[in-house]
Amino acid sequence: MKNVLAIYYTQSGQLGQIAERIALPFKEISDINFISHEIRTKPAFPFPWTKEAFFDVFPESFLQVPTELEPIPGEILNTKFDLVLLFYQVWYLTPSIPINSFLKSPEATKILAGAKVVTINGSRNMWVMAQEKVKKLLLANNAVLVGNIALVDRAPNLISVITIVEWMFSGIRKRYLGIFPLPGVSERDIFDATRFGKLILTALQEDKFENLQADLVSAGGVKISSYLVRVDKTANKIFEKWSRLISDRKNSRKRLLKVFNIYLLLAIWLVSPIVYILHVLTYPFNFNKIKRESLYYQGVKQIT
Ligand SMILES: Cc1cc2nc3c(=O)[nH]c(=O)nc-3n(C[C@H](O)[C@H](O)[C@H](O)COP(=O)(O)O)c2cc1C
Repeated sequence: MKNVLAIYYTQSGQLGQIAERIALPFKEISDINFISHEIRTKPAFPFPWTKEAFFDVFPESFLQVPTELEPIPGEILNTKFDLVLLFYQVWYLTPSIPINSFLKSPEATKILAGAKVVTINGSRNMWVMAQEKVKKLLLANNAVLVGNIALVDRAPNLISVITIVEWMFSGIRKRYLGIFPLPGVSERDIFDATRFGKLILTALQEDKFENLQADLVSAGGVKISSYLVRVDKTANKIFEKWSRLISDRKNSRKRLLKVFNIYLLLAIWLVSPIVYILHVLTYPFNFNKIKRESLYYQGVKQIT
């Protein structure tokens, strides 16, 4: 009997659906004890978000400040898992506060010590640096990352900014104004995610994880956009400064968050197109570096 844990957090239900599709092959096998756990924070984060609440979580998301979670059942804490499937979303280029809080908890240390972990990301499109942060947290828990899948919104970057904001602030997944595409990971991609579950299950049954990530990548599990990596890295440096400034100046927090809101709009609509043009122009000169980097971000190597 093998024990498998799927652990996830979701607001809209998107990551819950992804978890269900990936879990399907495991649930069909009788000698697999498959346990699913949904992380809940105390209190819950709002969904749909108000504009204030959405920006208010920025500093603590980015600075990876944990929050209180509902207790994890004893059944999970007392089981030794052969495999953990960690489903997470990105908030401000960082694992979401609920996931970060779990990964920094003593319960995670107990569950993850020595465990093999597959991370499954369901975000808009900017997840690469968040995954680096997850790799570090897994390492701190002595967990071994054996696979990673990133399911993203396939719409062009700026289109997905518009549609996701509309989704997060309305709570309704719809075609904005009737002309924009649906926000988030497409229903097709969610449905087809079962093929990744099959690959992970085979690796578990054969106890052979060395080729898992290569298989997941071949099956389309991780696509890297070197442009988005560049934006992600640049924005991380800038977010570092903003988050520290806002969290240090407690008295002017509200005002600073409003300024940050304006800054973010300018960065998305003015700076990111400029970064795009620069990226395209310098691409031939950076080709080797970009190729090396893309291979690394497609992989599961945890830097020590
Ligand atoms: C506060 C907040 C910040 C977010 N920041 C990012 C981000 O930096 N990169 C990204 O790709 N997606 C970002 N997203 C989108 C989420 O990763 C995710 O796709 C969305 O919240 C749906 O996930 P759910 O399953 O929890 O509903 C953000 C969402 C929220 C609510």
